[in-house]
Amino acid sequence: MATEAKRIAVTGAAGQICYSLLFSIAKGEVYGADQPIRLQLLDLPQAQDAVRGVVMELEDCAFPLLKDVSITDDPAVAFKDIDAAFLVGSRPRSKGMERRDLLTANAEIFKVQGKALNEAAKRDARVIVVGNPANTNAMILADNAPDFPRENITAMVRLDHNRALTQLAKKAGVGVEEIDKFVVWGNHSPTMFADWTNATANGKSLPELIGDESWYKDTLIPQVAKRGSAIIEARGASSAASAANAAIDHMHDWINGSNGDWTSMAVSSDGSYGIPEGLMAGVPLICANGSYERVTGLSLDAFQREMLERTVGELVEERDAVAKG
Ligand code: NAD
Ligand code: LMR
Repeated sequence: MATEAKRIAVTGAAGQICYSLLFSIAKGEVYGADQPIRLQLLDLPQAQDAVRGVVMELEDCAFPLLKDVSITDDPAVAFKDIDAAFLVGSRPRSKGMERRDLLTANAEIFKVQGKALNEAAKRDARVIVVGNPANTNAMILADNAPDFPRENITAMVRLDHNRALTQLAKKAGVGVEEIDKFVVWGNHSPTMFADWTNATANGKSLPELIGDESWYKDTLIPQVAKRGSAIIEARGASSAASAANAAIDHMHDWINGSNGDWTSMAVSSDGSYGIPEGLMAGVPLICANGSYERVTGLSLDAFQREMLERTVGELVEERDAVAKG
């Protein structure tokens, strides 16, 4: 067994996503079954009692890999010497509320956390932002952490990716694991673009296998885009277990590789595909050797360009709205 425990910060520890996420991390689902871990939990002062309750439950699971759990309301303490961070804490959207209404309140949270990350985290720590609006929060975090590698700050579009995989697999009559070269571009919002253009199932073209472009455009794309709202409508609360699962998938693949398959992560744009530099946009990636490589050189058709421009346009609007304050 590896000796040095990995330090993992998790914010929003008293919330509903973390009620699933923390237990999966503690079981070893991110780093694997041989890697001890320490959890450094952050939540607001008024949530500290609830976090203590979650910690009691973590203790009661007797997880062999979980060596220590600390609790704090200070981001600089939570991010001290971390190897990884799951930034989940923020205000979730409730019924009738538009996701973008939360932009300004959350910008403040991520400014403070960016500064703390800059001061306290290991330089090779990997960060995923889950709290909405996740892409713009991740951009603000990176902008406020100038000495921390920007490429190590990412936002989650994996839930959208996973949501689409299931619908595509059902329609094509294949297993989700058989699908490759699918991607979710852009923002984790209703403008996201679930793109099947290059997707394959067992090496065969998925669009050809399904053979129903109107289903793709009129059902699949809007269904994935509005899935978060549909869950809020049905549950009265935003997705939690599936969001936690996607966060684990994202970090697991980043650390352990995606077996040569494409995956979707929002990363800081290098300007490719016309996405303005520095925006955190979902793009196709392949993870290997603890790192990720963008899938480059794709030529986009008119529909893909239109869809990408729409979601990137929204990220630009969010960036500009935050800049205005
Ligand atoms: P929740 O309300 O159950 O929990 C949020 C927790 O964050 C609370 O315990 C709260 O006290 C804490 N918190 C608030 N501000 C904080 C701060 N400044 N520092 C530390 N902790 C803070 O919400 P949830 O259901 O767990 O969802 C969390 C976030 O994840 C929401 O923004 C939600 O919209 C988002 N989400 C994202 C995705 C995605 O795919 N990216 C999917 C589902 C939910
Ligand atoms: C989701 O996709 O389930 C959430 O991001 C929805 C939301 O707005 O909280």
